[in-house]
Amino acid sequence: MAEHIDGNRLQLDLRYRFDYLAKFLNFTSDDIAMLNTFAPIVFPLIPVLSDTVYRKLFSFDITKQYFLIRNEGFEGFMPRKQCPITLDSAQMAFRKDMLSVYLKRILTQGDWNDAFLQYLSQVGKMHTNQAGSGAINVDYIHVNTLLAYLEHLLIDVLCNADTTDDKTKRGILMAINKFFWIQNDFFTMHYLIEAKANSTAESVQSETKKPSKCCWL
Ligand code: HEM
Repeated sequence: MAEHIDGNRLQLDLRYRFDYLAKFLNFTSDDIAMLNTFAPIVFPLIPVLSDTVYRKLFSFDITKQYFLIRNEGFEGFMPRKQCPITLDSAQMAFRKDMLSVYLKRILTQGDWNDAFLQYLSQVGKMHTNQAGSGAINVDYIHVNTLLAYLEHLLIDVLCNADTTDDKTKRGILMAINKFFWIQNDFFTMHYLIEAKANSTAESVQSETKKPSKCCWL
């Protein structure tokens, strides 16, 4: 018999949503253990990974712009006009560090308790326009590609880990992949809320709504 899943509750209850994803993907405590096993392999490389990610984001103007827009907290000692942001500036050192914190946290978390689920969700939410003054408003296309890119970087680290046996490597690989799809869901759920809020606002705003310029759907 099919297990009942409450569609409304999936939208309202993060734990319930995660439990459903975990059951569907067979993401278990073994996968968490695999991520924890991967942690000491990745840790020495985190500065390099972080740097690689930001180099990628800075290699396209469309992704670089988000880091030019958001500079608060730094203006006092580093006015933007005088000192354009570069990969080595203080802002970037701070942001690289935030990615390091994220990578360390996701790989070392032992118990995926509610606080941790909230953290994964909050990381997603802050990139949308739904996070109040802390919102960064990054278009989802960039999040999707960066998640894939980050996953590739981690898989590459795993493939080059000489001291890990093939069975463990396989387990880690599966766990990494499951993790990224769960994290991706915790981004998309906020983007879907954003899209819904935007379309409601649009339809309220204008009855003379212009047809959208381009649509391939
Ligand atoms: C793999 C997908 C991504 C992950 C896991 C991620 C993770 C994070 C984390 C953990 C933070 C810090 C949150 C905090 O304040 O604690 C953050 C902030 C930020 N992210 Fe992302 N991010 C991703 C994608 C992107 C993309 C694609 C862009 C832009 C193109 C972006 C731009 C930013 C910016 C501008 C901040 C704010 C930095 C600040 O506070 O000044 N992120 N991100």
